[in-house]
Amino acid sequence: MAKFAGLDRILTLELVRVTERAAVAAARLRGRGDEKAADQVAVDAMRSELNRLPIKGTVVIGEGERDEAPMLYIGEEVGTKEGPEVDIALDPLEGTTICAKNLPNSLAVIAIAERGSLLYAPDVYMDKIAVGPGYPQGIINIDAPAVENIEAVARAKGVPVHEITACILDRPRHARLIEAVRATGASIRLIGDGDVASVIHTTDPDETGIDIYLGSGGAPEGVLAAAALRCIGGQMQARLLLNSEEKVARAATMGISDPQKVYHTEDMARGDVLFAATGVTDGNLLSGVKFGRDSIQTHTIVMRSSSGTVREIKARHQDLDKF
Ligand code: FBP
Repeated sequence: MAKFAGLDRILTLELVRVTERAAVAAARLRGRGDEKAADQVAVDAMRSELNRLPIKGTVVIGEGERDEAPMLYIGEEVGTKEGPEVDIALDPLEGTTICAKNLPNSLAVIAIAERGSLLYAPDVYMDKIAVGPGYPQGIINIDAPAVENIEAVARAKGVPVHEITACILDRPRHARLIEAVRATGASIRLIGDGDVASVIHTTDPDETGIDIYLGSGGAPEGVLAAAALRCIGGQMQARLLLNSEEKVARAATMGISDPQKVYHTEDMARGDVLFAATGVTDGNLLSGVKFGRDSIQTHTIVMRSSSGTVREIKARHQDLDKF
């Protein structure tokens, strides 16, 4: 498999600059109650940094269709246009509401993979289930009842079910799922937003307290989360929720012929994948941006599937004009 013509090692660290810039821009608008403004500055910052990368990049998961998103829209070409052809999934501000309210776990996120390796997912809901590394392959099953998945995870972890914590988005559509998980005796962490972070949290339960992620969220966020798990380890299954003819038709134009298909991690992010996320607000794994008198601090996780290396980069930026 071609490895971005040998550029992937260099690109890994270059990606850090991309998410750092977006995170710092968004963090300046933390807690201002203005989701749109925070998202816009993150998009601008990410785009200008991305356009410095030596790639022929195409945004496949982005800010939306071209007619609704002027920048980083699906199909936009980014990078210097000299270098390897890559597909890009990005979310300059994942958790816009979290950032606007200055609550935990908003991120600037990007994944890069060889052309054709990321699922071109429409902006619809996706059912998701995910666990971190160290479990036997196939331990989770998106079609099994919650109790079976929770009990399987508890058995494999060697703990009673009441020591398992599931993370679920706090939405009315999840009422029955929440009831079913509570009936098992497991604990639930209900989150307001931000399921990319939550899936990543399953990869380090000792630190985050999350063992399993369950429920539906955005399909684009699902692809980003799968890209992260491809690098760090873990298992994810997902199914697009194409509950109208219009959505089925839209998915078909993106090459999705089976609306019921169950996607495994590798179906959403194949081949060599790079992933980076920088904390905007403080979170369970990443600290948020800190503005000092003479410097700005950022905290980023960056990883590469081909080596499995996971780096955490705490950076102190003194060239404040750059931001
Ligand atoms: P935004 O960053 O676009 O606001 O998305 C936040 C988020 O919570 C995602 O993490 C999640 O996948 C999706 O929204 C859930 O959608 P909904 O809020 O419609 O339930």
